[in-house]
Amino acid sequence: LSSYLTDDFSRAHNYLRISVTERCNLRCVYCMPENGVPLSPSAHLLTTPEIVYLSQLFVSQGVDKIRLTGGEPTVRKDIIDLMTQIGRLRRSGLKELCLTTNGLTLHRKLDAMVEAGLTGVNLSLDTLDPYQFTIMTRRNGHEAVTRSIERILEMNRLGAGIKLKINCVVMRGINEREIIPFVELGKNKDIEVRFIEYMPFDGNKWSQGKMLSFKEMLATIREKYPDLQKIQDHKNDTSKTYQVPGFLGKLGFITSMTHNFCGTCNRLRITSDGNLKVCLFGNSEVSLRDILRERNNGEPIDQAAVDAIDQLETDARNASLRDSDVSEQDQRLLEIIGAAV
Ligand code: GTP
Ligand code: 5AD
Ligand code: SF4
Repeated sequence: LSSYLTDDFSRAHNYLRISVTERCNLRCVYCMPENGVPLSPSAHLLTTPEIVYLSQLFVSQGVDKIRLTGGEPTVRKDIIDLMTQIGRLRRSGLKELCLTTNGLTLHRKLDAMVEAGLTGVNLSLDTLDPYQFTIMTRRNGHEAVTRSIERILEMNRLGAGIKLKINCVVMRGINEREIIPFVELGKNKDIEVRFIEYMPFDGNKWSQGKMLSFKEMLATIREKYPDLQKIQDHKNDTSKTYQVPGFLGKLGFITSMTHNFCGTCNRLRITSDGNLKVCLFGNSEVSLRDILRERNNGEPIDQAAVDAIDQLETDARNASLRDSDVSEQDQRLLEIIGAAV
């Protein structure tokens, strides 16, 4: 992997997403059923030393960005301790340590997290209206989330440099009329608001009719802001970036339903029970947890894995996500990484 980092960043799997819990303190209608999801027995979940060990292993192989996700990562009791330990990997080449959170309790933990090395927050917020918030998340908490956003901006004014993105899932008939208020959030604030196309997940009652496409969102914004400009996306971004001239913030669109971005995807994923996945939608997984526990000690990923990633990347450039070639390559990559851990 590291050879790729020197060679061509866009071809490296240098971004690792780790789910640190399945639990969540909200019940967003598009994500979770009212009663939550069935939880794995705790013995099946990765322990903190295991997460830190794996992070170390991946950073030693060229991963330079780690994002902690969930469920809701802040509900993990030792999240600060975990971040502090992962944050130390800055010495070994980790450049970004990010969090995807609903922001409900973030305001209480943010200072300690920044101290631990947090560099970016993707905060999920689908409405600016407290009443609508309770409808969409089935819980109260709009004020707490707002407080978290304010705290990030305040820390940034003091020089913290936390990259803040707001993720807003747009659902027709539910929050689509808030597109413009969300755009205007970035008028005087350095926030990237990203509108996400509503995606089907098991049991979330998705329907085509409720999905508002990127094209429709763009048209809505252009009606009010006709001079909306496309700006350069970062390499490997899954979102398409725009800006209203004169606004401090940016806009992004995550077009999972209408435009495939697999060719530039650089993500590796570890689920909370320790499975390594290459693709969000792929079914191929390998249990790093089982390997770790069986062998009780791991060797770094070897040359064979590097070669497999090379092959995977080359193929992924020309193939779409569901091409059988790519799935085959994914499978091989997982097997080889599994063997090397
Ligand atoms: P950054 O690029 O670091 O900002 O992270 P991110 O956008 O990948 O992370 P975040 O956790 O904020 O996810 C935002 C949205 O992107 C979510 O709706 C994810 O479901 C979606 N997403 C993330 N990775 C993928 C992917 O590989 N494929 C697809 N289709 N969607 C993804
Ligand atoms: N469709 C689109 N985005 C979703 N998210 C969760 N469920 C869905 C869905 N069904 C988003 C959350 C969060 C991000 C990690 O994924 O809003 O911001
Ligand atoms: Fe799902 Fe995130 Fe909402 Fe929790 S906050 S229910 S994980 S989308």
